[in-house]
Amino acid sequence: MKEQLEVIQKRALAAITATESAAELEGLRVRYLGKKGELTALLKQMGKLSPEERPMMGQLANQVRAELEAALESQSAALDAKAMDEKLAAETVDVTIPGKKVALGHKHPMYTALDEFKEIFLNMGFEIFDGPEVEQADYNFTKLNTPDDHPAREWTDTFYLTEDSRILLRTQTSPMQIRAMEEHGVPIRMISPGRVYRKDEVDATHSPMFHQIEGLVVDKGITMADLKGTLNAVIREIYGPETKTRFRPHHFPFTEPSCEVDIQCHKCGGKGCPTCKGEGWIEALGAGMVHPKVLRGCGVDPDVYSGFAFGFGLERLAMGRFKISDLRLIFENDIRFLEQF
Ligand code: PHE
Repeated sequence: MKEQLEVIQKRALAAITATESAAELEGLRVRYLGKKGELTALLKQMGKLSPEERPMMGQLANQVRAELEAALESQSAALDAKAMDEKLAAETVDVTIPGKKVALGHKHPMYTALDEFKEIFLNMGFEIFDGPEVEQADYNFTKLNTPDDHPAREWTDTFYLTEDSRILLRTQTSPMQIRAMEEHGVPIRMISPGRVYRKDEVDATHSPMFHQIEGLVVDKGITMADLKGTLNAVIREIYGPETKTRFRPHHFPFTEPSCEVDIQCHKCGGKGCPTCKGEGWIEALGAGMVHPKVLRGCGVDPDVYSGFAFGFGLERLAMGRFKISDLRLIFENDIRFLEQF
């Protein structure tokens, strides 16, 4: 029996120190010290021993049990420590490795152009108004001296939202002239940027949705000279102090007189090139003196007050500012294009 005990002790100790996991260790505990374990089985046979042998064997058996228990405990602690070491080693942070780059977006070039534009006008004391894209025909047309039979009101030109042609996607930001005067009264100096919609096919210079920036100044004694001076100052601020402009007579129902303003081509300096389609000039905006009928409709006396209004095309402004050749690039959101700004 003594030999058997010593064999168990030897084998168990060797097995315990060789374990590599807590589960393995638990298996050994059950195998040797469990209810049906080898040591337990051996102890059950103590009864067969002579009374003289029994105490000595009992002592030896207890000693083996205590030794195995201690071995199990210390191996368990060793395994825990090893697991912790491995975890720490695996989780080490190498502070010398460069961090992951976070992809940051940036402002769209058209909004960069818009922000520069707003800044210029804010510095001249203008206020900024925001207005609805879904508009009443009354504001988009009628109050802008554009009667029912005007060709601009054709179904083929305008996105109507109701059968009776009273509600539409605004075709211009000019209804903001009316809204601003009704809301704010006069004198007024304001700009109002926003989206407008027309039934146009998409090409290099057209889109069914584009952006305009409306402007309106109404006060006592405002003349065409104020219109020219203001617009020239703004255009030179954007395109450079040497920029030449050209004011051409034009017609808008809500301004009288009306004009279109061209900017000398920044590419060829006026000689004519593909960018300006050989013209030497690029059309930049429509403008004019606010029609007396429009003023009167907003409760403003045209014998006391006068004013000018203008409408810039924002895409065109951005195209000139960043030398972009095709309008579609502005809307396609191709990252290869946008990353250039
Ligand atoms: N709303 C006009 C257009 O879309 C531009 C304009 C604005 C003209 C203000 C005169 C005054 O063409």
